[in-house]
Amino acid sequence: MYRTNTCGELTIRNAGTNVTLCGWVQKSRDLGGMTFVDLRDRYGITQLVFNMEKDADLCGQARRLGREFVVMAEGKVRERSNKNPKMPTGEIEIEVTQLTILNRSELPPFTVEEETDGGEELRMKYRYLDLRRTSVKNNIILRHKVAQEVRKYMDSIGFIEVETPVLIKSTPEGARDFVVPSRMQPGTFYALPQSPQTLKQLLMVAGFDRYFQIVKCFRDEDLRADRQPEFTQIDCEMSFVERNDILDTFEGLAKYLFREVKGIEFKEPFKRISYHEAMELYGSDKPDLRFNMRFTDLTSLVKGFNFPVFDTSEYIGAICAEGCSGYTRKQLDELTEFVKRPQIGAKGMIYVKYGSDGIKSFADKFFSQEELGRWAAAVNAKQGDLILILAGGKKETLTALSELRLEMGTRLELRKKDIFVPLWVVDFPLLEWDKEEKRFFAMHHPFTSPKPEDILLMESDPGKVRANAYDLVINGVEIGGGSIRIHDATVQKLMFKVLGFTEEAANNQFGFLLNAFKYGAPPHGGIAFGFDRWVAMFGGQDSIRDFIAFPKNNSGRDVMLDTPSPISGKQLDELSLIIKTEN
Ligand code: AMO
Repeated sequence: MYRTNTCGELTIRNAGTNVTLCGWVQKSRDLGGMTFVDLRDRYGITQLVFNMEKDADLCGQARRLGREFVVMAEGKVRERSNKNPKMPTGEIEIEVTQLTILNRSELPPFTVEEETDGGEELRMKYRYLDLRRTSVKNNIILRHKVAQEVRKYMDSIGFIEVETPVLIKSTPEGARDFVVPSRMQPGTFYALPQSPQTLKQLLMVAGFDRYFQIVKCFRDEDLRADRQPEFTQIDCEMSFVERNDILDTFEGLAKYLFREVKGIEFKEPFKRISYHEAMELYGSDKPDLRFNMRFTDLTSLVKGFNFPVFDTSEYIGAICAEGCSGYTRKQLDELTEFVKRPQIGAKGMIYVKYGSDGIKSFADKFFSQEELGRWAAAVNAKQGDLILILAGGKKETLTALSELRLEMGTRLELRKKDIFVPLWVVDFPLLEWDKEEKRFFAMHHPFTSPKPEDILLMESDPGKVRANAYDLVINGVEIGGGSIRIHDATVQKLMFKVLGFTEEAANNQFGFLLNAFKYGAPPHGGIAFGFDRWVAMFGGQDSIRDFIAFPKNNSGRDVMLDTPSPISGKQLDELSLIIKTEN
């Protein structure tokens, strides 16, 4: 028998028992007469002790153990004289009587400890060693726990998990497809699913009624902290439902996960706001509501005083930073530089300090104290506050002000990791105008239903049509999104028309779905959650990478597998990927 116990479970209650443990040598300390070895496995660390006087050979053997050697140790559990209250096994140690080296290890390229000396690239290259580190290992275990809870809950409310294929036809979700060449049909390709969107809709036509799947999705898009080319969704679809049925069902899932995984109880229903409101009040369709700092539209209040910056702007918006009237010139310059960064793109920032000596602004010469008082009242500023104002084109200014709001939230430490504020953003626009292609694109996907009351606008004013679409946003992160789908052939045709698809093109790309819809498609809708994002949020981090066992780096590479990588000429040939030129 390799082991009687794990390295994480022995306590003072086991003192006096004989045990056998297996694990990896985290480190050893040689104190002359005694040698201590920290033995690690998935469950924890247990201290082994070797006594020179009692058994010099054994002690010598222990001294020669290298980091990450795999060993089996037999011995007796005893109370430690020097207890470590920080460790679950910190009250005991094992007085070893027999030591077996199960395997040796080369010196690892970085220390496999919490405070590792390994940089990101090195840790990714040797990810299997990185995964031995407690924090990374715990992230993966957390992921497992969340997956199990999702399955438990979904099963309990009648959802059926169905696997959909990975080699499919392209489904448009706004990113590029990863494609796989077909050997048997030269010149043709499968696409890896950006999501199982069309397949889950087919499952509704098939009558499955309540489907879910924890599923890999693939998107060839620019990577960020919360984006991987290969990521996982909790993908769901339901039949005979309206929007509120879906929001209620998945609010149930969210609340269940918060309760089971984080021990947090949400008694109140999640807040719901429209996309329009989110943009006007926070300049973002995924506002972080852990703090307030809503926008105030000052446009009508501040125009017409011969202050050129305002008079030439379409929109002038303000936020109020409570208690910041004492900001120094340096701090304000920093904020101005922040909003002027090319990614944010504001031309400048105007500030008004509501200090003990009155309301002060560098635009004083254009505006009387009375006027400044009106601004302060509009933004609900009180003595001690700082008003920050941006001006320019409406869309750009809202976005820049949103970045400034988040920056202030961070500076004022209002974005705490252990506070969660979920909200539903609803009624997204159905279509988005693409300036370069000069046509409308579906903001979500082409199967998203318009709100019934807006269908009449589809041809006359497509930009104004609202979709029956929603996102779940938590702490400024888009955790999930979905919509009620179009199940009516006439509306679907209209949608394709507005998107500029000819009937032929629509049939070419989506014939399989349109055909299926001829055979009794029920009214249906669904949602998909970013599983990696959800787990990372539960784990209190912004980056999803450490919650994925084998992630890709920022350039989409797996540095451990060293891929993407070239394939042989033979393989290329078999796949008909070599274009032969005739002499
Ligand atoms: P959507 O494209 O909004 O909707 O994706 C759903 C959720 O998936 C997560 N997500 C990602 N996570 C990590 N890396 C990525 N590259 C990435 N892209 C998206 C986000 C997002 O909210 N089929 C529709 C859903 C539906 O309508 O039911 C869809 O895929 O958290």
